[in-house]
Amino acid sequence: MRVRAIFLVGFMGSGKSSVGQELARRLAWDFVDLDARIESRERRTIPDIFRDHGEPGFRLVETEALCELTESLERDTVVALGGGAFAQEKNRALIRHWPAVFLDAPVDELWRRSSEEKGIRPLRKDREQFAGLYAERLPSYRQAAVTIETGDKDLISICAEIESALQLATVKTDSSLDLSASSKTGGLR
Ligand code: S3P
Repeated sequence: MRVRAIFLVGFMGSGKSSVGQELARRLAWDFVDLDARIESRERRTIPDIFRDHGEPGFRLVETEALCELTESLERDTVVALGGGAFAQEKNRALIRHWPAVFLDAPVDELWRRSSEEKGIRPLRKDREQFAGLYAERLPSYRQAAVTIETGDKDLISICAEIESALQLATVKTDSSLDLSASSKTGGLR
């Protein structure tokens, strides 16, 4: 059987990395953040790649990293894609054998969350540009197999919805029964 994978897609601030880490922990799968993969592969940060090669240069290395990842998957894996990856047709084609899950939220919420998160996002400029880019990408995100509204939900509810939509069973471990940790109940900020 082909290795199982879930690709989390959605705009900046949609919680792909936090949800991905928690989902992978619950399922006892591996977790890969594609942006982190790109940074270690290129040995520089995403803002540096944008500065030196512009968005077209970034998109090239993003597709290369995604291609490499899909060809080397050996264990069941949850993958968080960067916000623009699923908007590229060739990237959607690379992951077509696996389900993509679109994490959505109202654009004001995405704007707020992405300002509170660490790290610089070269494509997060002002509120109007941000909302325009979101609207432009929405038709691509809607091609995902599953859409989850994350607006007012915590991580546990979001992961449970994904598991139920994809009919996946959570592995019960001592730590997965510990609901007291703030990261699990605190939602997406
Ligand atoms: C991008 C989103 C970023 C990162 C890069 C480009 C985009 O990822 O891949 O800055 O095009 O929306 P996050 O969605 O994790 O912020």
